[in-house]
Amino acid sequence: MTPRFQPDDTLYKQRNTLKVEYVPDDIVGRDDETEAYEAALQPVINGEYPDNIFIYGKTGVGKTAVTNFLLNDLAESAEFYDVELTVVDMNCDGLSTSYQAAIRLINELREPEHHIAETGHPQSKVYRLLWNELNDLTGTVLLVLDEIDHIRDDTFLYQITRADNNGYIDNIQLGLIGISNDSTFRERLDAKVQSSLCETEISFPPYDAGELRKVLEQRADIAFYEGALDDGVLSLCAAHGRQDGGDARRAITLLRKAGDLARTEKATKVTTDHVRRAQEKLEAQQSMDIMRDLTEHEQLTLYALTTLSAKGESPARSRIVYQRYKEFCHHSRREPRTARRIRGFLSDFEILNLTVSHKQHRGQSGGTYREHELNRDIATVVDALQTLIEEVGAHRSIVEYLPDTGNDKKFESFV
Ligand SMILES: Nc1ncnc2c1ncn2[C@@H]1O[C@H](COP(=O)(O)OP(=O)(O)O)[C@@H](O)[C@H]1O
Ligand SMILES: [Mg+2]
Repeated sequence: MTPRFQPDDTLYKQRNTLKVEYVPDDIVGRDDETEAYEAALQPVINGEYPDNIFIYGKTGVGKTAVTNFLLNDLAESAEFYDVELTVVDMNCDGLSTSYQAAIRLINELREPEHHIAETGHPQSKVYRLLWNELNDLTGTVLLVLDEIDHIRDDTFLYQITRADNNGYIDNIQLGLIGISNDSTFRERLDAKVQSSLCETEISFPPYDAGELRKVLEQRADIAFYEGALDDGVLSLCAAHGRQDGGDARRAITLLRKAGDLARTEKATKVTTDHVRRAQEKLEAQQSMDIMRDLTEHEQLTLYALTTLSAKGESPARSRIVYQRYKEFCHHSRREPRTARRIRGFLSDFEILNLTVSHKQHRGQSGGTYREHELNRDIATVVDALQTLIEEVGAHRSIVEYLPDTGNDKKFESFV
């Protein structure tokens, strides 16, 4: 008997190189940014006090990749020229306060057996411990804070950028590299912190289609066998990546999804049709994520529209959606929001591409109103709202779309 799973890597040479975690050996299409970044790091090799560097740009534009790449090279050069350099790399995803950031940094600098608890220390003690850890180092220390925009207050940055002036650190030359996915982060900072963090600022713009193509070509060469990609595959992935905000991560993921689809279908080549279908799947996944992340009352509003749609009663006027929404609130003992809020939610849905709306004229009496319609299949929305539906109960109109879990909290509608 042939085993159930058989090796089938006729397309992929190294699929792993298309995963998010993969660090490319070379950076393409970011020449200006790399040059500015290199210049900002140059003082380290001269043994001079480094400038703080602030890197910003949308997600997927190469901020982390270029940083890792240059800091690797910097470490090699430092070794070569006998410059003492320590790089401390910390991702702030999952942190939200300065307090948490300071403790995370202490623990980054300590051996696991000496880690401190994440809560329960007075703030002054936390910073004292931090200065002690930093003073145990020597030479130049580069502190990389990636996704720094997750930290909502600026005490941590204030303390770190002033530590030398305040005499808290004396043994090292401390340079800070802050990387932000949010361009408004800088404006949120206190003026003093802003001017010291942003001594050198480098903006990473979205990739254009040509740059994305270069990134994809480089990656495809190591990921796929020669001839595995049909003409036009990379250009199409680049074009979609460009539309999705010039995001290289999206473009690479799309290529991998297209490759996976081709492999599943046992195709001899990855074609533009695979790319097209993979893009549809990615978009569907993205809107699932968006719907799952909506607030409870936004979800209730979307649920109300979905039930109208399931009965063929859409496009539906805002007023009708609001009535249905209020009914759901009463049914589930929630306090309804105002009609105005619900109209706001409905227009946000349109921006998120979940719905489309049309303006209608009232005729003789003048004035206009809006009608809304789902832009996703009912089954997809029901799937995304599953948790809410379990709590509120299943409206009769959508019962057929529910998974067979014996959900017996069904109810009727009276509007
Ligand atoms: N210029 C580039 N050359 C090669 N790969 C790149 C380049 N820019 C981005 N990538 C790849 O695209 C993905 C997203 O880049 P990343 O640096 O993580 O973006 P950011 O940190 O700006 O969100 C990563 O997988 C990265 O390896
Ligand atoms: Mg990043």
